[in-house]
Amino acid sequence: MSENIIYCYSGSGHCLNMAKSIASRLGDTDIVLMRAFPEKTDAREAKRVGFVFPCYGGGLPGHVEEYVRAIQIAPGAYKFAVEQFAGYMGCGLHKIDEIVGLDYWNLISNHSTCIWLMPHGLCFPPTSKEEAQARIDRKAMEVAAAVKAFERSAKKPPEKKLFAVEDRFFSQLHPKRTKKFTVSDACIGCGTCARICPRGNITLQDKKPRFGTDCIGCLSCLQFCPKEAINMGKVTEKRERFPNPHVKALDLTQKIIHIE
Ligand SMILES: Cc1cc2nc3c(=O)[nH]c(=O)nc-3n(C[C@H](O)[C@H](O)[C@H](O)COP(=O)(O)O)c2cc1C
Repeated sequence: MSENIIYCYSGSGHCLNMAKSIASRLGDTDIVLMRAFPEKTDAREAKRVGFVFPCYGGGLPGHVEEYVRAIQIAPGAYKFAVEQFAGYMGCGLHKIDEIVGLDYWNLISNHSTCIWLMPHGLCFPPTSKEEAQARIDRKAMEVAAAVKAFERSAKKPPEKKLFAVEDRFFSQLHPKRTKKFTVSDACIGCGTCARICPRGNITLQDKKPRFGTDCIGCLSCLQFCPKEAINMGKVTEKRERFPNPHVKALDLTQKIIHIE
């Protein structure tokens, strides 16, 4: 059993990149992916248990809340969380705090990956992709130092009640939005989209992706398609993709990544 466990959800790789960066500074860490039900829910032997995740629609992505509720943590363990967001933080940190009782939390604004709604350049304060990555690296260093030293946050994460309402409404949008997925002639039938979909919602028929309705809106398929052949409505045809440059599609399909 590793000394530390970081539970991570990531749609386009930025949170996974950050979790890896924190883990490499802590050493001896298992990163457990939460894109599907986590492979390991018994974290009772870990000294430190962390959560790294993005804000989705004012709340937690996909089924993360349900997954966090299933995790068992030892009473004396140190618990921390880091949230990425583009323009506003939502209520995700508060929800995690309510479930596990956080000792330490932190936040960082990154570019938006919800490109059917906002262009990715939306970031607070606005910045280039390179600077956004440098900011993630600096924040990961700050978090790792605090977590190593078992630092405690002075305040609890804010509740943001309005965003809890948005969160409920936002998660109901995705099944309807799946009708908007299109696949262009650029598709080479490589199957990356089907392998990466956290819900198993994409199947290949005649070497072309077909979308079901069990979608959580992560856009991993669209962001990691090597030919940019997948779109959600007309708007994404014009918008630049923004997967994390240090994360490969295959990394997101792992269940546990161990960092020495
Ligand atoms: C479906 C979806 C919803 C999002 N909703 C919000 C939001 O409500 N507020 C916000 O500031 N950023 C929002 N974002 C932006 C992400 O929080 C941000 O881009 C994050 O860095 C993505 O991390 P990841 O690459 O690990 O998935 C959203 C992104 C997606 C894909």
